[in-house]
Amino acid sequence: VNHLLGIKYLNKKDIALIFETADHFKEVINRSIKKVPTLRDTTIANIFFENSTRTRLSFELAEKRLSADVVNFSAGQSSVKKGETLIDTVNNILSMKVDLVVMRHPNPGAGIFLSKHVKAAIVNAGDGAHEHPTQALLDSYSIREKLGDVGGKNVVIVGDILHSRVALSNIFALKLQGANVKVCGPKTLMPKYIESLGVTVETNLKKALEWCDVANMLRVQHERMDISYFPSIREYTQQFGVNRQLLDSLDKQIVIMHPGPINRGVEITSDVADSDQSIILHQVENGVAIRMAVLYLLASKIQ
Ligand code: CP
Repeated sequence: VNHLLGIKYLNKKDIALIFETADHFKEVINRSIKKVPTLRDTTIANIFFENSTRTRLSFELAEKRLSADVVNFSAGQSSVKKGETLIDTVNNILSMKVDLVVMRHPNPGAGIFLSKHVKAAIVNAGDGAHEHPTQALLDSYSIREKLGDVGGKNVVIVGDILHSRVALSNIFALKLQGANVKVCGPKTLMPKYIESLGVTVETNLKKALEWCDVANMLRVQHERMDISYFPSIREYTQQFGVNRQLLDSLDKQIVIMHPGPINRGVEITSDVADSDQSIILHQVENGVAIRMAVLYLLASKIQ
Protein backbone atom coordinates (compact mmCIF):
# COMPACT_ATOMS: atom_id res chain seq x y z
CA VAL A 1 0.00 0.00 0.00
CA ASN A 2 1.21 3.48 -0.77
CA HIS A 3 0.96 6.28 1.76
CA LEU A 4 1.80 9.96 2.05
CA LEU A 5 3.58 10.01 5.41
CA GLY A 6 6.03 12.84 4.78
CA ILE A 7 7.85 14.80 2.10
CA LYS A 8 10.97 12.91 3.23
CA TYR A 9 9.65 9.87 1.33
CA LEU A 10 9.02 11.74 -1.96
CA ASN A 11 11.35 12.69 -4.80
CA LYS A 12 11.37 15.62 -7.20
CA LYS A 13 9.36 13.69 -9.83
CA ASP A 14 6.65 12.83 -7.29
CA ILE A 15 6.24 16.52 -6.48
CA ALA A 16 6.11 17.47 -10.17
CA LEU A 17 3.42 14.81 -10.78
CA ILE A 18 1.35 16.05 -7.81
CA PHE A 19 1.59 19.63 -9.14
CA GLU A 20 0.59 18.61 -12.70
CA THR A 21 -2.36 16.68 -11.30
CA ALA A 22 -3.32 19.63 -9.05
CA ASP A 23 -3.15 21.94 -12.11
CA HIS A 24 -5.75 19.74 -13.76
CA PHE A 25 -8.04 19.74 -10.71
CA LYS A 26 -7.62 23.49 -10.20
CA GLU A 27 -8.70 24.06 -13.79
CA VAL A 28 -11.74 21.83 -13.19
CA ILE A 29 -12.67 23.76 -10.02
CA ASN A 30 -12.17 27.12 -11.81
CA ARG A 31 -14.55 26.01 -14.55
CA SER A 32 -17.17 25.76 -11.76
CA ILE A 33 -17.32 21.97 -12.17
CA LYS A 34 -17.57 21.30 -8.45
CA LYS A 35 -17.59 17.49 -8.64
CA VAL A 36 -15.88 14.80 -10.73
CA PRO A 37 -16.69 11.07 -10.45
CA THR A 38 -13.03 9.99 -10.05
CA LEU A 39 -13.25 8.41 -6.54
CA ARG A 40 -16.87 7.26 -6.70
CA ASP A 41 -16.02 3.80 -5.30
CA THR A 42 -13.59 4.98 -2.60
CA THR A 43 -14.40 5.51 1.08
CA ILE A 44 -12.17 7.86 3.07
CA ALA A 45 -12.04 8.41 6.85
CA ASN A 46 -10.70 11.71 8.15
CA ILE A 47 -9.55 11.00 11.69
CA PHE A 48 -8.41 14.01 13.67
CA PHE A 49 -6.85 13.68 17.12
CA GLU A 50 -5.89 17.36 17.11
CA ASN A 51 -7.81 20.51 16.19
CA SER A 52 -7.87 21.72 12.60
CA THR A 53 -9.83 24.13 10.43
CA ARG A 54 -8.05 24.37 7.07
CA THR A 55 -6.62 20.88 6.68
CA ARG A 56 -9.75 19.08 7.76
CA LEU A 57 -12.20 21.11 5.66
CA SER A 58 -9.83 21.10 2.72
CA PHE A 59 -9.46 17.29 2.76
CA GLU A 60 -13.22 16.86 3.13
CA LEU A 61 -13.93 19.22 0.24
CA ALA A 62 -11.26 17.53 -1.90
CA GLU A 63 -12.79 14.11 -1.16
CA LYS A 64 -16.33 15.29 -1.91
CA ARG A 65 -15.24 16.99 -5.13
CA LEU A 66 -13.76 13.63 -6.18
CA SER A 67 -17.11 11.94 -5.28
CA ALA A 68 -15.59 9.77 -2.52
CA ASP A 69 -17.72 8.62 0.41
CA VAL A 70 -16.47 10.44 3.51
CA VAL A 71 -16.65 9.78 7.25
CA ASN A 72 -15.26 12.19 9.81
CA PHE A 73 -13.91 11.31 13.23
CA SER A 74 -12.90 13.68 16.02
CA ALA A 75 -11.07 12.07 18.92
CA GLY A 76 -12.74 14.46 21.38
CA GLN A 77 -16.22 13.01 20.71
CA SER A 78 -15.12 9.38 20.33
CA SER A 79 -14.38 6.24 22.36
CA VAL A 80 -10.74 7.33 22.47
CA LYS A 81 -12.01 9.24 25.52
CA LYS A 82 -12.90 5.83 27.05
CA GLY A 83 -9.34 4.58 26.53
CA GLU A 84 -9.53 2.93 23.07
CA THR A 85 -6.09 2.73 21.41
CA LEU A 86 -5.12 4.29 18.08
CA ILE A 87 -4.77 0.90 16.34
CA ASP A 88 -8.09 -0.40 17.70
CA THR A 89 -9.79 2.84 16.70
CA VAL A 90 -8.48 2.70 13.15
CA ASN A 91 -9.06 -1.06 12.71
CA ASN A 92 -12.68 -0.58 13.81
CA ILE A 93 -13.10 2.20 11.27
CA LEU A 94 -11.44 0.05 8.56
CA SER A 95 -13.72 -2.89 9.27
CA MET A 96 -16.53 -0.65 7.99
CA LYS A 97 -14.74 -0.95 4.58
CA VAL A 98 -12.76 2.26 4.52
CA ASP A 99 -10.05 2.42 1.81
CA LEU A 100 -8.00 5.41 2.89
CA VAL A 101 -7.31 7.17 6.18
CA VAL A 102 -6.37 10.84 6.52
CA MET A 103 -4.99 11.35 10.02
CA ARG A 104 -3.87 14.26 12.17
CA HIS A 105 -2.25 13.31 15.48
CA PRO A 106 -0.23 15.16 18.14
CA ASN A 107 2.51 12.48 18.25
CA PRO A 108 5.42 12.69 15.77
CA GLY A 109 5.53 9.49 13.71
CA ALA A 110 1.90 8.51 14.44
CA GLY A 111 1.18 8.05 10.71
CA ILE A 112 4.30 5.91 10.20
CA PHE A 113 3.31 3.77 13.20
CA LEU A 114 -0.21 3.35 11.87
CA SER A 115 0.97 2.44 8.37
CA LYS A 116 2.86 -0.53 9.85
CA HIS A 117 -0.14 -1.84 11.79
CA VAL A 118 -3.24 -1.37 9.63
CA LYS A 119 -4.17 -2.33 6.06
CA ALA A 120 -5.08 1.00 4.50
CA ALA A 121 -3.41 3.88 2.69
CA ILE A 122 -2.52 6.57 5.23
CA VAL A 123 -2.24 10.29 4.51
CA ASN A 124 -0.48 12.29 7.20
CA ALA A 125 -2.45 15.49 7.86
CA GLY A 126 0.11 16.63 10.45
CA ASP A 127 1.85 14.54 13.12
CA GLY A 128 3.04 16.58 16.08
CA ALA A 129 6.19 18.57 15.30
CA HIS A 130 7.23 16.06 12.60
CA GLU A 131 5.67 16.57 9.13
CA HIS A 132 2.69 18.18 7.40
CA PRO A 133 3.28 17.05 3.83
CA THR A 134 0.16 18.42 2.12
CA GLN A 135 0.84 21.86 3.70
CA ALA A 136 4.35 21.90 2.21
CA LEU A 137 3.00 20.78 -1.17
CA LEU A 138 0.37 23.53 -1.24
CA ASP A 139 2.98 26.06 -0.09
CA SER A 140 5.39 25.19 -2.91
CA TYR A 141 2.50 25.02 -5.38
CA SER A 142 1.49 28.55 -4.33
CA ILE A 143 5.06 29.83 -4.78
CA ARG A 144 5.16 28.21 -8.24
CA GLU A 145 1.83 29.85 -9.12
CA LYS A 146 3.04 33.29 -7.99
CA LEU A 147 6.71 33.27 -9.08
CA GLY A 148 7.15 30.35 -11.50
CA ASP A 149 9.62 27.50 -10.92
CA VAL A 150 10.45 27.05 -7.21
CA GLY A 151 14.03 26.06 -8.15
CA GLY A 152 16.48 28.91 -7.51
CA LYS A 153 14.06 30.97 -5.40
CA ASN A 154 15.20 32.29 -2.02
CA VAL A 155 12.75 31.28 0.70
CA VAL A 156 13.00 32.17 4.37
CA ILE A 157 10.96 30.30 6.96
CA VAL A 158 10.50 32.52 10.00
CA GLY A 159 9.69 31.76 13.62
CA ASP A 160 9.09 28.71 15.75
CA ILE A 161 11.10 26.20 13.69
CA LEU A 162 11.54 23.83 16.65
CA HIS A 163 7.87 22.95 17.03
CA SER A 164 6.89 23.25 13.38
CA ARG A 165 5.93 20.32 11.16
CA VAL A 166 5.27 22.94 8.47
CA ALA A 167 8.93 24.03 8.64
CA LEU A 168 10.34 20.52 8.31
CA SER A 169 8.06 19.49 5.44
CA ASN A 170 8.68 22.82 3.68
CA ILE A 171 12.44 22.43 4.01
CA PHE A 172 12.30 18.93 2.46
CA ALA A 173 9.98 20.09 -0.36
CA LEU A 174 11.85 23.31 -1.17
CA LYS A 175 15.28 21.61 -1.15
CA LEU A 176 14.00 18.81 -3.44
CA GLN A 177 12.91 21.46 -5.94
CA GLY A 178 16.21 23.35 -5.79
CA ALA A 179 15.17 26.41 -3.76
CA ASN A 180 17.63 28.17 -1.45
CA VAL A 181 16.29 28.02 2.11
CA LYS A 182 17.06 30.05 5.21
CA VAL A 183 15.45 29.74 8.60
CA CYS A 184 15.11 32.72 10.92
CA GLY A 185 13.98 32.73 14.53
CA PRO A 186 15.09 32.79 18.15
CA LYS A 187 17.97 30.41 18.94
CA THR A 188 15.74 28.81 21.59
CA LEU A 189 13.24 27.83 18.87
CA MET A 190 15.85 26.46 16.43
CA PRO A 191 16.52 22.67 16.37
CA LYS A 192 20.20 21.76 16.83
CA TYR A 193 20.24 19.61 13.67
CA ILE A 194 18.73 22.30 11.42
CA GLU A 195 21.85 23.05 9.33
CA SER A 196 22.27 19.34 8.53
CA LEU A 197 19.10 19.73 6.41
CA GLY A 198 20.95 22.04 4.01
CA VAL A 199 19.52 25.33 5.24
CA THR A 200 21.30 28.35 6.71
CA VAL A 201 20.32 30.10 9.93
CA GLU A 202 19.82 33.88 10.08
CA THR A 203 18.87 35.47 13.38
CA ASN A 204 18.37 38.99 11.94
CA LEU A 205 14.90 39.17 10.35
CA LYS A 206 15.62 42.28 8.27
CA LYS A 207 18.70 40.63 6.69
CA ALA A 208 16.68 37.50 5.98
CA LEU A 209 13.90 39.52 4.33
CA GLU A 210 16.41 41.50 2.24
CA TRP A 211 17.76 38.18 0.91
CA CYS A 212 14.50 36.40 0.17
CA ASP A 213 11.86 36.26 -2.56
CA VAL A 214 9.37 34.62 -0.20
CA ALA A 215 8.92 34.76 3.57
CA ASN A 216 6.86 32.00 5.17
CA MET A 217 5.81 33.29 8.61
CA LEU A 218 5.12 30.42 11.01
CA ARG A 219 2.67 30.45 13.84
CA VAL A 220 4.14 30.54 17.33
CA GLN A 221 2.91 27.18 18.66
CA HIS A 222 1.93 28.06 22.21
CA GLU A 223 0.37 24.61 22.70
CA ARG A 224 3.70 22.81 22.10
CA MET A 225 5.76 25.34 24.00
CA ASP A 226 7.64 24.94 27.24
CA ILE A 227 7.63 28.54 28.46
CA SER A 228 11.35 28.37 29.33
CA TYR A 229 12.18 28.09 25.60
CA PHE A 230 10.66 31.33 24.65
CA PRO A 231 11.38 35.04 24.64
CA SER A 232 8.33 37.02 25.78
CA ILE A 233 5.65 37.55 23.13
CA ARG A 234 6.57 41.26 23.05
CA GLU A 235 10.26 40.45 22.44
CA TYR A 236 9.37 37.84 19.83
CA THR A 237 7.18 40.28 17.91
CA GLN A 238 9.83 43.01 18.07
CA GLN A 239 12.56 40.74 16.68
CA PHE A 240 10.72 38.24 14.48
CA GLY A 241 7.31 39.73 13.68
CA VAL A 242 6.73 41.14 10.22
CA ASN A 243 4.93 44.47 9.93
CA ARG A 244 4.27 47.06 7.23
CA GLN A 245 7.10 49.37 8.29
CA LEU A 246 9.64 46.56 8.02
CA LEU A 247 8.39 45.49 4.59
CA ASP A 248 8.40 49.09 3.34
CA SER A 249 12.04 49.46 4.46
CA LEU A 250 13.11 46.74 1.97
CA ASP A 251 14.10 47.71 -1.56
CA LYS A 252 11.88 45.03 -3.12
CA GLN A 253 8.41 43.51 -2.83
CA ILE A 254 8.59 40.02 -1.31
CA VAL A 255 5.82 37.43 -1.16
CA ILE A 256 4.37 36.77 2.31
CA MET A 257 3.01 33.36 3.30
CA HIS A 258 1.53 31.92 6.47
CA PRO A 259 0.13 28.40 6.94
CA GLY A 260 -2.56 29.57 9.40
CA PRO A 261 -3.98 29.86 11.93
CA ILE A 262 -2.48 33.34 12.40
CA ASN A 263 -1.63 34.92 15.74
CA ARG A 264 -2.45 38.41 14.44
CA GLY A 265 -0.08 41.01 15.84
CA VAL A 266 2.46 38.37 16.95
CA GLU A 267 4.24 36.82 13.93
CA ILE A 268 2.45 39.06 11.42
CA THR A 269 0.40 42.24 11.62
CA SER A 270 -3.04 42.47 10.00
CA ASP A 271 -1.94 45.15 7.53
CA VAL A 272 0.58 42.65 6.12
CA ALA A 273 -1.56 39.50 6.37
CA ASP A 274 -4.43 41.20 4.51
CA SER A 275 -2.27 43.03 1.95
CA ASP A 276 -1.59 42.35 -1.75
CA GLN A 277 1.83 41.01 -0.78
CA SER A 278 0.22 38.16 1.13
CA ILE A 279 -0.82 34.94 -0.65
CA ILE A 280 -2.25 33.39 2.52
CA LEU A 281 -5.75 32.79 1.15
CA HIS A 282 -4.33 31.53 -2.17
CA GLN A 283 -2.47 28.91 -0.12
CA VAL A 284 -5.78 27.82 1.39
CA GLU A 285 -7.48 27.79 -2.04
CA ASN A 286 -4.65 25.71 -3.53
CA GLY A 287 -4.89 23.25 -0.63
CA VAL A 288 -8.06 21.74 -2.11
CA ALA A 289 -6.51 21.08 -5.55
CA ILE A 290 -3.32 19.69 -3.96
CA ARG A 291 -5.31 17.34 -1.72
CA MET A 292 -7.48 16.23 -4.65
CA ALA A 293 -4.25 15.40 -6.50
CA VAL A 294 -2.74 13.48 -3.57
CA LEU A 295 -5.92 11.47 -2.96
CA TYR A 296 -6.40 10.74 -6.65
CA LEU A 297 -2.81 9.53 -7.08
CA LEU A 298 -2.93 7.37 -3.93
CA ALA A 299 -6.36 5.93 -4.70
CA SER A 300 -5.25 4.96 -8.21
CA LYS A 301 -2.55 2.80 -6.58
CA ILE A 302 -4.88 1.00 -4.17
CA GLN A 303 -7.65 0.15 -6.67
N1 CP B 1 -2.35 25.02 8.25
C1 CP B 1 -3.05 24.15 9.04
O1 CP B 1 -2.67 22.98 9.19
O2 CP B 1 -4.17 24.68 9.61
P1 CP B 1 -5.20 23.85 10.50
O3 CP B 1 -4.47 23.46 11.78
O4 CP B 1 -6.36 24.75 10.76
O5 CP B 1 -5.57 22.61 9.74
